[in-house]
Amino acid sequence: MYRRFMSLFLVLALCLGCMAACSTAAAEEEEDNRTYSLDFDQQKNWTIETKKKVTYGYTKMVYCEHPTHPGYQAINMYVPAEYLNEDGSVNTEAKVGDYTALTAPILYINSVGAYLGVAPYKLKSTVTRAGQNLWYYNYLKKGFVIAFAGARGRTQNVELPDGTAQAVGKAPIGLVDLKAGIRFLKANAGKFPGDTGKIISNGMSAGGAMSVLLGVTGNSGIYTPYLEEIGACMDQTDDVYAVQAYCPIIDLENASQAYEWMFGSHESRDYPQTDFTKAFSAAMAKQYTERLNGLELGFDLEADGKGGSFYDWLLNQYEAGFEAYVQRGNDPKKDTDTWEWLSYDETDGKAKVASLDDLISSGYISRSKNVGAFDAYDCSTAENSEFGKLGAIVGTEEEKRHFSTAMADLLGTLAGDFPEESAEYAEKYETSRDADIQAQVWAMNPYHFVEDGDTTKAQHFRICVGTKDTDTAPVIAASFALLLKKAGIDTTYELIWNEIHTDAEYENGFEDWVDSVCR
Ligand code: DHB
Repeated sequence: MYRRFMSLFLVLALCLGCMAACSTAAAEEEEDNRTYSLDFDQQKNWTIETKKKVTYGYTKMVYCEHPTHPGYQAINMYVPAEYLNEDGSVNTEAKVGDYTALTAPILYINSVGAYLGVAPYKLKSTVTRAGQNLWYYNYLKKGFVIAFAGARGRTQNVELPDGTAQAVGKAPIGLVDLKAGIRFLKANAGKFPGDTGKIISNGMSAGGAMSVLLGVTGNSGIYTPYLEEIGACMDQTDDVYAVQAYCPIIDLENASQAYEWMFGSHESRDYPQTDFTKAFSAAMAKQYTERLNGLELGFDLEADGKGGSFYDWLLNQYEAGFEAYVQRGNDPKKDTDTWEWLSYDETDGKAKVASLDDLISSGYISRSKNVGAFDAYDCSTAENSEFGKLGAIVGTEEEKRHFSTAMADLLGTLAGDFPEESAEYAEKYETSRDADIQAQVWAMNPYHFVEDGDTTKAQHFRICVGTKDTDTAPVIAASFALLLKKAGIDTTYELIWNEIHTDAEYENGFEDWVDSVCR
């Protein structure tokens, strides 16, 4: 009942936000006023990758009729050359690996970072260098189809007639754009190689958040006004088949608290603490412990947050991560000699990690964000900008906003001991209670949708996080994976040893998983 009420409320609040953005249409640049055809055959513009002759590319296909930023609201698609005839028509006979043009999964890869807008990735012609470009060629060799998707982000603006600029890419627009891209692919199924029933979303960090959001918000009505506004294919669905996410930055309204749960008692050189921030941190850590237990994941934290079945489960994930690392041929001694808290038994292949606190006190990882990690006092985070007002005039305070009502609540409770700081900050965070901010926050938090009967979920999720990632607390992706499992969704969660905030992955890790869910 509550959920249904929230959905109605959100559609209303988001519609108001959308109307603010609609006024931007008049101000679009000349080229932006074009109406784009959503027929793949009209837009496709393919080129053969000449050096290696391994792919065909369809580049810069705009996925909605009325983009404000056609360079971003677009897809670059690459397919194994074998899937196409010389004239560009689809060859349904040829096999690449285990797939044909009719059965190949379509990897829907977004390069969103820090909620910024991004053009679709362009495959470079050299395949010799390590890194993403090499992986992508490997995907094509496996017979997968790749659709790189771009999207607008928190700093996309359009100019108004009076010379001011208006923000058109604040939350949840990046996600909306990516949904439009999926609808475009489905609307054009059969005109290019790949099975649109097997779209696998993939992204890292903020892009990882987008990826899991695509996986749990499929066909949700709360994004409809925005999709209509940009001229997306409204007669199509936008659910995806499976989701890969690397180091996703999610649960934003609880992520600052989770950060204190993980790092709270530790300072780092760049982030020294005062008595006030220590008290604030402790209160946030406690609040997160309560949130985690409230998720009823089947594992709990003790009241002080430092033990309990959830804590043990998370430690086990680190141990499993190290065991996998060794199984893949890495020498365990280098790490076990360096870190006292880590041991490895050669006889049974089992690792032991003493405590989460040890990871921090030993310097294996350290706090890389201040107290108020995601919703900062000075409104300086990427998230503060992401939750700026849709339609804000650039240069005004509305461009960056506080969004954590939980932090507003806590500041009230600290007023007795820290009247000055509390008074200074409380007023600022109070603004986070605005309905339109909370509608944006809701629309960008995948946790809210896992048990929402009105959205279509991906069938398979794989979430990978580096053990040295400190951009968000490890408990975030871990608890999300457990929430998915609780909902009966096939979920693989892996902590990738010694990887930082990156596409934390093993060689062929993603490819093998795709095979396992598609073959
Ligand atoms: C990203 C990193 C962050 O630390 C964050 O808060 C948001 C996004 C990113 O790399 O996309």
